[in-house]
Amino acid sequence: MNLTLRIWRQSGPDDAGRMTEYDVRDISPEMSFLEMLDTLNEELILSGDEPVAFDHDCREGICGACGMVINGEAHGPERTTTCQLHMRHFDDGDTIDIEPWRASAFPVVKDLVVDRTAFDRIIGAGGYITAPTGSAPEAHATPVPKPAADTAFEHAECIGCGACVAACPNGSAMLFTSAKVVHLNSLPQGAPERESRVLDMVGRMDDEGFGGCTNTGECATACPKGIPLFSITKMNREFVRAARKG
Ligand code: FES
Repeated sequence: MNLTLRIWRQSGPDDAGRMTEYDVRDISPEMSFLEMLDTLNEELILSGDEPVAFDHDCREGICGACGMVINGEAHGPERTTTCQLHMRHFDDGDTIDIEPWRASAFPVVKDLVVDRTAFDRIIGAGGYITAPTGSAPEAHATPVPKPAADTAFEHAECIGCGACVAACPNGSAMLFTSAKVVHLNSLPQGAPERESRVLDMVGRMDDEGFGGCTNTGECATACPKGIPLFSITKMNREFVRAARKG
């Protein structure tokens, strides 16, 4: 496949940035999207140009490091991570626009790399439990009802990639935050911090400059792990409950 790429190039946070056009040739349909970018970067390096900066780590859809807006969609046309998107979903001769996540709480560091440490600070505000760690607890010491375990697992799938924020017209982090809150608040181990967790994490989310939720649902549509929209409803319920108690 031969493709035209229009990629956002920005040398640093203070650079205005611009779309820059590149041609790539002989791309295999079996390549991942990141392997296609690797091919471009090899050519750029060999010709003495600056390679395109982008985030990646596991390349297995697990870590959440990768992420870019491809033809206007977070992670591109498939409901998966960018590293698991394959070139067979594009056609020979296509022009592909590639941009970083766009959100004021995710400032651009360079090219397609954005600063997502706001997510780390939301986690730091309450994404933990205070149960003692060390030796493994006896398996039946804290029974977990099956529905609670299922809910916790469903929400623990969030890999914190940020696609929800990038897809949301408000740049809201409600789906990410709710996944973390509901995951821990569903479990008996998370009960001691149930109220403080939701209040502190939502407060941190607001302080980081993320927008509010207006129920457009783009976040859940873009989420590569299928975190459901009702997760936000559950978090709002937790928030009201905690605020009334407090
Ligand atoms: S590089 Fe880890 S999820 Fe894509």
